[in-house]
Formats: sequence, C-alpha cells, structure tokens
Amino acid sequence: MAEHESPAVTYGSYLQVDQLLQLQQPRSDEHDEVLFIIIHQVYELWFKEVLHELDRVMRLLRADKGDRAQHTLKRVLTILKVLVAQVDILETMTPLEFLTFRNRLAAASGFQSDQFRQIEFVLGAKSRASIERFGAGTRARQALEARWAAPTLWDAFLQYLKREGYDIPEAHLSRDVLAPVEPSAEIQQVLIDLYRKDPRNSELCERLVDLDEGMQEWRYRHVKMVERTIGAKPGTGGSSGAEYLRTTLAKPAFPDLWAIRASL
Ligand code: HEM
Repeated sequence: MAEHESPAVTYGSYLQVDQLLQLQQPRSDEHDEVLFIIIHQVYELWFKEVLHELDRVMRLLRADKGDRAQHTLKRVLTILKVLVAQVDILETMTPLEFLTFRNRLAAASGFQSDQFRQIEFVLGAKSRASIERFGAGTRARQALEARWAAPTLWDAFLQYLKREGYDIPEAHLSRDVLAPVEPSAEIQQVLIDLYRKDPRNSELCERLVDLDEGMQEWRYRHVKMVERTIGAKPGTGGSSGAEYLRTTLAKPAFPDLWAIRASL
C-alpha cells in the first residue's frame, strides 16, 4: 500500500467497533452490571439520534416542508417505540440482582442524562436547574445552553401554521421561547378548524400527539420499572425516587393538541 493511501474501510473501522467495545467498564464483577451499562449506553445513542431527527423536523417545518417533517417524525416515533420496549429487557433484572451493584453507582443517575434534558428542552420543558447540574465548558452544558435559547418544536410548528395561512396570534409567534407552552383557547380554535378542513396538516398534528404520547409512555414504563426494582427507596440522583418520577407523568408537551379532542 502506498503511503498516501488510507487502509480499506472495513465494518470494524467504519463503526469503530474496537473503541465501542472498550466503553463498557463495570465497577463490580456482578453479572448484571454489564446489561445495566449497555442498556443505558444504547439509550444515549438513541437519544442522540432522536435529537438529530428532531432538529431535522424543525428545519423542515421552517422550510415549509410539512410532509417531509411528518415523515421524519414517524422515524422518531418508531425509535420511541423501541425505547419503551427496551424497558422490558432491564425488567428481567430482579431487585436483588440490582442490589448486587447499586451502591457502585454512587450518585450517578439518569437524572444526569443531558441528552434526555435536551429532548425535554426541544419539547418545551426547559429548566435552569437541569443546565446548572453540568460544569461550565462541558459538552453537556454547551449543548443544553444552546437548546435553552433556541425556539422549541412547538414554536417551529406555530410559525409553520402561520405560513400555511392559519390565524396564529402574534403573541404566540413571538412568545418567550424559555417559557413552558401554556394551553391557549385561541390556538385550540385554530386547531379545531384545521382538523376539520385540512387532512394533510391534521396528520402532522397527529404525529406530534404520537410524539407527546410516546414520551409519556416512556416515563410511565420507567417509573413502573423503578417501582418494581427499588420500590419506595430514594434515587441515586438524590430525589425521592418513584415518588418524584410520578410527578413527571401526565404532563403533555403540547396541551392544546390534547385539549381539542373534547371539541372535535
Ligand atoms: C433499574 C433501572 C433503573 C432505576 C432503578 C432507575 C431509577 C431512577 C430514579 C430513582 C430516578 C429519579 C432521579 C434520582 O433520584 O435518581 C431516575 C431518573 C431518570 N432515569 Fe432512571 N432508573 C433506571 C433505569 C433507567 C434507564 C435504562 C434509563 C435510560 C436512559 C433511565 C433514565 C432516567 C432519566 C432520563 C431520568 C430523569 C427523569 C426525570 O427527571 O424526569 N433510567 N431513574
């Protein structure tokens, strides 16, 4: 091989399999810790892909490509189904099996998943406390700061609807992107009208509802997994555990899309 030629691409080199397989470093010799690490790593990889796709959805909406945005949302939803289904695998680990290595986690917890928080931020649930958990200059902190300041998926959607000819009030188009999305009677009226007359965009709305429902499904399955694995014990991340997690359930990202159902 001449010096300037790079080696042929192989499965292993392209996917960096050697590096990938080095990344599972259990802190105990307990059998189940390998599963625990792998499953969390797989979640983080899917979170990365979900963010990659949600960024695309927002770009497509800004470019008035509603159909393509819907298509991309379908991919996100399919990933979410996998994320929910994966909980079954970890539920094969009994409470006693988890206890064999739980103390090795110290204060580490899914609470500190910056990518999960990034997804929440894109969906409109932003919090400074989630950002401040990460040190200045870290990848996590920079990523969260960028998403903190950026418009949410709901903002991109409302702007898109305006350009599609819907009468979205100015106050909503220029709303504070840091604030949570509050239910709005005006937006609900627009959406009711849209559902009755515009099958194309109502499909897009349904995909947003799927996304919202998918996230809520994940939260529900996660809290049930927590209840069956650690019961009422506090979390390693310092919260009350399942009790705290139950407070995060049934909080829709897009309340207007749920509220209109009673009026359709
Ligand atoms: C045996 C399995 C698991 C247990 C017992 C468990 C336990 C907990 C607990 C107690 C919390 C609350 C925060 C705390 O005080 O630590 C939490 C939060 C969290 N966990 Fe898990 N977890 C498990 C598996 C997973 C998996 C596989 C993921 C996937 C990434 C995950 C992601 C998260 C996330 C994102 C949060 C933050 C949720 C929020 O604040 O709304 N957990 N977990």
